[in-house]
Amino acid sequence: MAKSITPSTFVRNLSYGKLCELSDFLDPHENWKKVIVNIYKPTGEPRYTQNHLRRFEGLVASGKSPTVELLHDWGTTNCTVGDLVEILEKNNLLAAADILLPVTRIPVSWSPVPGREESAEVTVPLDIVEHLQISQTSQEPVEDEDQPSDSERRPCSGRPGFRGFSFQELLQMTGNFNDRPALEGGSRLGAGGFGVVYRGCFNGADVAVKKLSCMGDISPQELKIQFKQEVQTLQMLKHKNILDMVGFSCDGDHPCLVYSYMCNGSLLDRLACLGGSSPLSWTRRCLITIGTARGLEYLHHNHHIHRDVKSGNILLDETFEAKLSDFGLTRNSSKHSSSTVLTEKIVGTTAYMAPEALRGEITPKSDIFSLGVVLLEVISGLPPADDTRQPHLLMEMKDEIEDEEMTLEDFVDKKMGPCDQTAVEKMYSLSKKCLNERKNRRPQIKEVLMELENALTTFPLGQQSKE
Ligand SMILES: Nc1ncnc2c1ncn2[C@@H]1O[C@H](COP(=O)(O)OP(=O)(O)OP(=O)(O)O)[C@@H](O)[C@H]1O
Ligand SMILES: [Mg+2]
Repeated sequence: MAKSITPSTFVRNLSYGKLCELSDFLDPHENWKKVIVNIYKPTGEPRYTQNHLRRFEGLVASGKSPTVELLHDWGTTNCTVGDLVEILEKNNLLAAADILLPVTRIPVSWSPVPGREESAEVTVPLDIVEHLQISQTSQEPVEDEDQPSDSERRPCSGRPGFRGFSFQELLQMTGNFNDRPALEGGSRLGAGGFGVVYRGCFNGADVAVKKLSCMGDISPQELKIQFKQEVQTLQMLKHKNILDMVGFSCDGDHPCLVYSYMCNGSLLDRLACLGGSSPLSWTRRCLITIGTARGLEYLHHNHHIHRDVKSGNILLDETFEAKLSDFGLTRNSSKHSSSTVLTEKIVGTTAYMAPEALRGEITPKSDIFSLGVVLLEVISGLPPADDTRQPHLLMEMKDEIEDEEMTLEDFVDKKMGPCDQTAVEKMYSLSKKCLNERKNRRPQIKEVLMELENALTTFPLGQQSKE
């Protein structure tokens, strides 16, 4: 059995697995830098210089984790877990500290939403929040200095942390989680693998409340991980094309997540014209895929892999702007950008899954594969899987086209009206690249975004504003 970790355990004696767990929290947003600047020599001088720091930064490009390498290096001294935890706690990196020395931390202070005077201080069960870093203000993702920064990539500034809702408040906001469909006057918007989503009203604005429950083979433990992962990811990542979280609750029977309400539902539902909605035009489809690619580019740029990219997780606001949602499965990617990392559990949605993802490998290239399936959906308007269809999987339909058993023209969704054939061909050829069985041959998200933007510009500009 592994020896338990105490404050006097030497950092050099921590297992590789423990170091990797730490890197999940310290690699994103370069949190390890907060550690490195607090490491001193016995003489009182900083142990690491700017040059060292840059060397650790450079490791990311070769697929290594700066956290793991830093701890290996510092571990050659007699530093202890106690020393490390002290630095982590000083910097409010409590989730990482808890990996080493779990402690009971109460109460968690929740930030009120802007415009509300009263403080929303809520004490929540520790087993759920023990690894959450809830700070007063959102942590801002770190930009690469050599990366051109566009205004959309910049996180929204001055945004407070999430609001802590009580379960009772959510009951009121959703009409007691009214299970009648929202379209029929109830509150239910839909259901997924981790719970049911309800429409609610908070401070006069519409919100969507996801009530998590153990569905299928999900254990309560896994649900907790999803919950923590989602809150943590959305606390750090803010982008025009990433769904905004308003807050969450964990004092009731079910942990709940509260998001901005997306009045045009999911891309999946709009492509299927569910509830009699009008078919999406080609221009609108292009803009939605560009928005999705921008959101994904932001995620990958910030070393996150989504792992469940699909049209059901692309939500549309009132202007049909795409918002990528569901971050419960996201994983930090900085340490596995080039190496193969196997996950303990295969997750995601099969109809979108890359061959390596089915084998448990975690790589940003699997998100690219899933995006390839979404592009096929956008072109064809067909669902990603259909038992009554041959082939069942949409991703296999591209082979039919390649084998000339079907033409691209047959494949194109007739419901979308006139569209630019060249642009459709460009999008189709991009989806084929994304769907390459070999992950290294798939494009990076930056190239995908560029090609999508090019495809749109081939469409006469006058028609883009006619929506
Ligand atoms: N913020 C939101 N605004 C409006 N509708 C939403 C919102 N979030 C979810 N929905 C609706 O609820 C449905 C269910 O969402 P949910 O994320 O639970 O399941 P899913 O995306 O179908 O599957 P998975 O659990 O794999 O993500 C969505 O398809 C969408 O129609
Ligand atoms: Mg979803």
